[in-house]
Amino acid sequence: MTNLIVKPSKGIKGEIHIPGDKSISHRAIMIGSLAKGETIINGFLPSADCLATVECFRKLGIDIQMTNGCKIIIDGKGLKGLRQTKELLDVGNSGTTIRLISGILAGQPFLTKITGDESIQKRPMMRIVRPLREMGAGIVGHVKKDNIYAPLEIDGGNLTPIEYELPVASAQVKSAVLLAGLFAKGETSVIEKNKARNHTERMLSHFGADIRVQGMKVGVRGMREFRAAEVDVPGDISSAAFFIVAAAIVPDSELLIKNVGVNPTRTGIIDVLHRMGADIQVMNEQLIAEEPRADILVKSSKLKGIKIDGSIVPRIIDEIPIIAVAATQAEGTTEIRGARELRIKESDRLATISMELKKMGANIKELDDGLIIKGPTAFKAATVDSCGDHRIAMSAAIAGLAASGETTIENTDCIETSFPGFGKLLASI
Ligand code: S3P
Repeated sequence: MTNLIVKPSKGIKGEIHIPGDKSISHRAIMIGSLAKGETIINGFLPSADCLATVECFRKLGIDIQMTNGCKIIIDGKGLKGLRQTKELLDVGNSGTTIRLISGILAGQPFLTKITGDESIQKRPMMRIVRPLREMGAGIVGHVKKDNIYAPLEIDGGNLTPIEYELPVASAQVKSAVLLAGLFAKGETSVIEKNKARNHTERMLSHFGADIRVQGMKVGVRGMREFRAAEVDVPGDISSAAFFIVAAAIVPDSELLIKNVGVNPTRTGIIDVLHRMGADIQVMNEQLIAEEPRADILVKSSKLKGIKIDGSIVPRIIDEIPIIAVAATQAEGTTEIRGARELRIKESDRLATISMELKKMGANIKELDDGLIIKGPTAFKAATVDSCGDHRIAMSAAIAGLAASGETTIENTDCIETSFPGFGKLLASI
């Protein structure tokens, strides 16, 4: 078990690069494995979650080479190129891997068994199982109450297209259905109420798949091969978020973060912090491989509490723990509602962030679907626990920068799932 010790900061200064986007890295491996020809990925995130995706596709017979961790070459064999494996696929801690790959496995004419760690086995899978069964896949798993959990056995093939209205705002469910749709003859479509991250749609379009977005509806035509492509993965805005908040709350800070993904379905963190009064500039925007990226300049600023609810929630779904940290340093009350989905992430994030920030002195109240935070709080030195959740560990580390003494965050190995090198990068600034 590793601990991270964070000392109070007197100002964060410098220029940094953030590791590659986790969502885009997963999708590049998956879609590159289904394309015909050699796909090259630059800026891949070599975190435990994304490496789990690589291992799953290797077990399914795809040759994936990795140089210096961040460059990947995939020898894609097209839509019919996956091979049956007798081995159990293991996604580790990665919800994105299990939910997205299940869509692909639903389209394969063979049986695959898949599981993950203790946390994955507690995360609800009915949200993907229901539409995939509707398309014709046979899926069994561990059934409890009204839900189904990993390990899953997926007996795929012979899919029929469906039109699916998403009951929850979830990019993972949307992606599972669209990826299964690649193996169904005709158009499979998904209709969203609130737009969740759209990297699957953008990447399928970049690879030349037959995909169409019309307002809140995305349709894909299946059984059509697409070609390999080159993908350049931008820095992960969900990882950058920790450093953006750090520079915003620590006095005398000025931090330039280069080459961060600024896909509008992910930039809710910038909108929220702007509304709180943060000094953040987004500069030098470019579009590469259908994904926008930019440099982000953050200066320390006086923050104020705000209300957060509604359609912005899917755009900040992974950033709510670090927004809670920002709110503890803001003048007034911040109220976050409509965020019940946080209860079924890597940990119950409404419970874990409240519990851990309280140990540092935060005035934070857990609601059924959100949080109420009153600030500003002068954090005191404390020992907190990651609760096995990478985003809780990193949020607590940033809170530690604003504390009066040393903060110890216990059990920080989980940071490897999304942000290898986080501790070193934090120390460097
Ligand atoms: C992700 C979607 C989100 C997010 C997760 C990554 C993705 O999950 O929380 O970290 O890459 O599609 P949901 O689809 O469950 O909201």
